[in-house]
Amino acid sequence: MKITVVGAGAVGASCAEYIAIKDFASEVVLLDIKEGYAEGKAMDLMQTASLNGFDTKITGTTNDYSKTANSDICVITSGIPRKPGMTREELIGINAGIVKTVSASLIEHSPNTIMIVVSNPMDTMTYLVHKTTSLPKNRIIGMGGALDSARFKYRLAEALGAPISDVDGMVIGGHSDKGMVPLTRLATRNSVPVSKFISEERLNQVKEDTKVGGATLTKLLGTSAWYAPGAAVSGLVQAIACDLKKMYPCSTLLEGEYGLNDLCIGVPVILGRNGIEEIVEIELSQAEKDHMKESAEGVSKTNDLLDV
Ligand code: 2OP
Repeated sequence: MKITVVGAGAVGASCAEYIAIKDFASEVVLLDIKEGYAEGKAMDLMQTASLNGFDTKITGTTNDYSKTANSDICVITSGIPRKPGMTREELIGINAGIVKTVSASLIEHSPNTIMIVVSNPMDTMTYLVHKTTSLPKNRIIGMGGALDSARFKYRLAEALGAPISDVDGMVIGGHSDKGMVPLTRLATRNSVPVSKFISEERLNQVKEDTKVGGATLTKLLGTSAWYAPGAAVSGLVQAIACDLKKMYPCSTLLEGEYGLNDLCIGVPVILGRNGIEEIVEIELSQAEKDHMKESAEGVSKTNDLLDV
C-alpha cells in the first residue's frame, strides 16, 4: 500500500507520522515544493522508526511527482494555512490554484488513486477536484467531519467530566465555523444520551466550542492546528487501506442525499477499499435539517467563487 502526502508542513508531516506509527502501509511519499523540506521531514521521521516500532518506509521529494507513481491513496494538504482571525473561506484564491495543479499532477502518475482533500476551504476544494478531474465520486473524499467530530468528543468529555472513550458523537455539515452541525441530540455516553448528564445550556456551549475548534487553536498557535488534523487523516487512510468499512463523516459529492445537490459537504459515509462505499442517510430533526440547509448554502456560496 503506497500513500502520498502532498505538503510536508505541519499537517502533512503529522499525517505521515500517524500513518507510519499505525504501521499498515508499506510506503509513504511526502512531497513539497520547498527544496529539501520533504526529504528532511522524511529522514527525521524515518529516524523515529526504531523508536516507535514501525516498518513503513517514508521518503521525501521536492516536487517530483514521478516518485508518487501508483499511489493507492493521495492526501492533499498543500496550500496556505489560516492566520488568527481568518476564516477558512478566505484562503480560496491561493489554495484553489494549488489544489487544481496538485490533483492533476497526482492523477497523471496515479490514475487509480483515492484522493483525500485537506486543504481549506476544504468542502470547496473537494468540489474543485470533482469539477476539474475525472476521478469517480467514490474516490474523492474531503477530510473535515472526522476532525470536527474528534473535537466534539473532546468538548463533550470535558463537559461530562468523563473519559473520551465513554463518549460518542458526530459533526456533519460544512467544515467551517458557521457550517458545522454537531449532532448533540445523538451524542451518547455509553449509549445514554448526553442530555441525561448535562443541561441544554452546557450542551449548547459544547456545540459552540466545537464549531470554533479550529479558530480557537489558530488563535493560540498563530497558525492552524496539525496533530488532530493529521490523526484524523490517518484514520481515513487506514479505513480505506485496511478495508475497515468504518463510518466517518466526510465531505462527499451529494446528488439528492439529504435533499442536497451539486456540492460537497460532510455527511456520514462508509469507508473501505473503494473509498466512499456508501453515503449513510440518517433521520435529522427539523432544527438539524434547517442547520444543514444553511450550511449547504454557505458552502455553495464559496463554491461560486471558483473559476470552474
Ligand atoms: C482545522 O480545522 C486544518 O481546517 C483544519 O484545524
